[in-house]
Amino acid sequence: MPVTRKIRVELGQRGYDVAVGVGLLDEIGTEAASFAPTGRAVIITDSNVRGLYAEPVAAACGRAGLQTHVIDFPAGEQHKNLATYGQVMEGLLGLAPPIDRGALIVALGGGVVGDLAGFVAATALRGLDFINVPTTLLAGVDAAVGGKTGVDARGGKNLIGAFHQPRAVVIDAAVLKTLPAGELGNGLAECVKHAVIRDRSLLDFIEDHAEALPAAEPPLLAELIARNVALKAAVVAGDEKEAGQRAHLNFGHTVGHAVEAAAGYSGISHGQAVALGMVAALHVAVGRGLIEPAAVRRVRNVLSALSLPVRFADVPGLPASARDPERLAEIMARDKKARAGVVRFVLPTNLGNVAVFDDVTPDQVSAAVRSLRQ
Ligand SMILES: NC(=O)c1ccc[n+]([C@@H]2O[C@H](COP(=O)([O-])OP(=O)(O)OC[C@H]3O[C@@H](n4cnc5c(N)ncnc54)[C@H](O)[C@@H]3O)[C@@H](O)[C@H]2O)c1
Ligand SMILES: [Zn+2]
Repeated sequence: MPVTRKIRVELGQRGYDVAVGVGLLDEIGTEAASFAPTGRAVIITDSNVRGLYAEPVAAACGRAGLQTHVIDFPAGEQHKNLATYGQVMEGLLGLAPPIDRGALIVALGGGVVGDLAGFVAATALRGLDFINVPTTLLAGVDAAVGGKTGVDARGGKNLIGAFHQPRAVVIDAAVLKTLPAGELGNGLAECVKHAVIRDRSLLDFIEDHAEALPAAEPPLLAELIARNVALKAAVVAGDEKEAGQRAHLNFGHTVGHAVEAAAGYSGISHGQAVALGMVAALHVAVGRGLIEPAAVRRVRNVLSALSLPVRFADVPGLPASARDPERLAEIMARDKKARAGVVRFVLPTNLGNVAVFDDVTPDQVSAAVRSLRQ
């Protein structure tokens, strides 16, 4: 039997279990069948994951008596858009015989698949049940839990979407073995974020295993994932629709998103941008007397040990526009999370605690950005 941990996301009637383990894909049929009252499952995946994992998941569903279909779309963030949404939706509605509201969507892939397939599930026939089967570290520790679904618009990322919670999440750490180099770092940055906002013991855990993590074996990754899922589940349970504390998950993302956008989403990964964003936010916190410089050094050391950047110079391909404080300030002011042009910052008040600040001055932001140039 695969090693499994179950974490409950406490959301009343919309609550669900997240199973984390090694070797869970082969067992997924029973779980899927329990949410597919009319015996149909539709796996939505991307062109990379299809060849790797659609077959075993479909076979497991078949063994559980489900009639199973697979729909895929081209991999990559550039395909997380309305055109792909439309194609996948038409594919789903064109299945023969036609699906009914008892059909289950299985989102099999990284965060792109989870967001897009979740949004298809939220809107097809006015709402189908879905289960999330994340196959990247980022999707496992972050995207798959919490019910945010959607696609990008021309005007920005994730501008179209819905809250739609999955009925279950199944995370098999064994699939991370095939992740391309660099993808793990996206998830690791979110793990450091979780540790800084809520859990100093998670920071100890990451520090203890920092050298090993980038090439870790599935059981260690499963433990890391389980700890992060428990943390995210608690945040989401306390604030499902992001009216309050869920905003803490944006720590490192204010400057991070601006750097990504200024770079035109190339030459820097999301995890690298968030790592830089966290260092910048920590710098703002020191400037305001919220935390000691030693706390910044500690987080910078963890990030470096995980091969994540702590200065612009650590990202060789970064375009000059993405290092320009004025350009970054301009992007932050029109972020969808800024209100009336006031940039909101999530700042640590010590390691393991954060608060939201609406009064960070342009000078403080630009000092933080300049600190990334050193
Ligand atoms: N809904 C949320 O709360 C939430 C939170 C964070 C991020 N997101 C979204 O998640 C997306 C990023 O997710 P991501 O980093 O997982 O990217 P991704 O889904 O693009 O996956 C990264 C790459 O890895 C490939 N891949 C996935 N699993 C694999 C495996 N096991 N082996 C080999 N290749 C594999 C994919 O095909 C893709 O090429 C963004 O669109 C972001 O907006 C959503
Ligand atoms: Zn992120």
